[in-house]
Amino acid sequence: MESARAAYDVEQLIESLGQFPEPEAEPSFIVVSGLPGTGKSFFCSRLAERLPFKILESDALRRTLFPSPSYSAEESAQLFQAIHLLIERLLKKGTPLILDATNLSERYRERLYSIAERLNVRLILVRVEAPPQVVYERLKARKQKEKSGNYSDADWQVYQRMKTLVQKIQRNHYVVDTSRDITPVINKIMRAVRR
Ligand SMILES: Nc1ncnc2c1ncn2[C@@H]1O[C@H](COP(=O)(O)OP(=O)(O)O)[C@@H](O)[C@H]1O
Ligand SMILES: [Mg+2]
Repeated sequence: MESARAAYDVEQLIESLGQFPEPEAEPSFIVVSGLPGTGKSFFCSRLAERLPFKILESDALRRTLFPSPSYSAEESAQLFQAIHLLIERLLKKGTPLILDATNLSERYRERLYSIAERLNVRLILVRVEAPPQVVYERLKARKQKEKSGNYSDADWQVYQRMKTLVQKIQRNHYVVDTSRDITPVINKIMRAVRR
């Protein structure tokens, strides 16, 4: 049964996540959106250094459920079904969250908006971007290094394919260009979270 499988997946993901920050009465939910190599994971870890947030990195969670990922539509559907349940479970508990995933389509983001609305938590949206030339160099370097802590397989070809899927965020959001100083946006988000 699909829901039983999803419940099992959520348990697996929770087990893989390690420590959680202290629950809060009014946890915020930060969602980043951006193409591969734009610096989402980099930006999210810089944010989490300043704020006690748990990062849900879809690339890492995918590997927990699928050690050799295929990136098929079915795999992604199963993954995100589990991620949505996980988000809901953790926000209900009061865990402040950052969702680090490409989140390119508005229809997909609608699911996240509705979770935040239903649970009445503050939703902070961030579009992460970088000039294509910078992304090209980064993805080339990321592929060569295969450094630990990188869970993404996406390369320049994947970037170009996904570029066609980008949809504007139809709500208030922050924009950060990670080829420049990211501190001003981090500071703005910190103020928004504390408000
Ligand atoms: N602001 C930055 N300064 C320096 N290196 C960065 C910056 N943003 C990203 N990178 C590097 O570029 C590569 C791609 O960034 P990453 O955060 O993995 O992108 P994404 O998660 O969006 O696919 C990584 O090796 C990362 O360390
Ligand atoms: Mg990433």
